[in-house]
Amino acid sequence: MGVIEKAGGSVHKIAARRAKKYNKKAETHIAAEQGFKLDYAKFAEAGYYHPDAKASQLALELRAVKRRLLRRIGFLRASGERQSHRMPGRQRNLIMVTSARAGEGKTFSAANLALSLALEDQIETLLVDADVPRPRVRDRFGLAAGPGLTDKLLDPSLSVSSLQYRADQAPLSILAEGGRVERASDLFATDGCQRLLTELSTQTPDRLVIIDAPPVLATTEAVVLAKYVDEIVFVVEANATPEPAVASAIDELLDINPNVSLMLNRCLIGAGGSHYGSYEYYGPGGDMQSTMPPRARTEGVSNGAI
Ligand SMILES: Nc1ncnc2c1ncn2[C@@H]1O[C@H](COP(=O)(O)OP(=O)(O)OP(=O)(O)O)[C@@H](O)[C@H]1O
Ligand SMILES: [Mg+2]
Repeated sequence: MGVIEKAGGSVHKIAARRAKKYNKKAETHIAAEQGFKLDYAKFAEAGYYHPDAKASQLALELRAVKRRLLRRIGFLRASGERQSHRMPGRQRNLIMVTSARAGEGKTFSAANLALSLALEDQIETLLVDADVPRPRVRDRFGLAAGPGLTDKLLDPSLSVSSLQYRADQAPLSILAEGGRVERASDLFATDGCQRLLTELSTQTPDRLVIIDAPPVLATTEAVVLAKYVDEIVFVVEANATPEPAVASAIDELLDINPNVSLMLNRCLIGAGGSHYGSYEYYGPGGDMQSTMPPRARTEGVSNGAI
């Protein structure tokens, strides 16, 4: 029996136990499914994107990051115009945000990208909290505890739409982490996870799915998920993440998925400082990879160097 089949076996046992426990809860949840309000004051206080700060440094930097990302997934044409007709079926719309280690700004970056795409560009966006060991999305968006991603993976009969929270003020939905599981990587390695991601990709062709994943070096979840996603945004905390950690995490990802871009977080350059110093393609043919060693990448960028 292969590793994935073994993982599948243990997952099915847990699924049977969890399905019993959650069936009632999930039904209640479907009946009560609903919207939530984006708390702009709370976002402003925490330094997150909010619509009253369209000219803020963060908003400007996110704009540059988004432009590049949307081009890479074919959502924007080279001219900058939005692709008008998306064909039905599997899209290049699954974007995973990860980093080498904990605490480098993955959730901050994933949440801000999602907020800015939905509020500023009115792009339908789904934010998924796949950081099952350290889920933070629920807390940042003020969502109550409830079922989510892991519950859907353990019980495929649950409707994924019923597990999502829908923002009142913008085309933004959230699929939170769900109940705790011992080894999320086993769950992510199942066919069911691949099927779910395909479903999320195809359900709404014009939607972007931003996945907040665990760090690469701490656990294996991000590497497992890297197989299914279209783009990986790798967050590096400027002047904090050790270069060998960045190099080995990126190597692990590139072995599985060549579409890795680098996002330099908390880059303090110039008087006002900056949230994001650079956003560069890292995969084969990307100039970062071929020309600059890691130190030069950190030091050789300026605000909005896109
Ligand atoms: N550029 C930034 N500007 C302001 N605050 C930031 C920035 N980046 C991260 N933070 C804050 O730093 C803390 C850690 O960031 P965050 O939770 O996004 O990291 P993480 O990589 O998701 O951590 P974990 O691995 O624990 O999930 C949070 O309080 C977040 O709001
Ligand atoms: Mg996080």
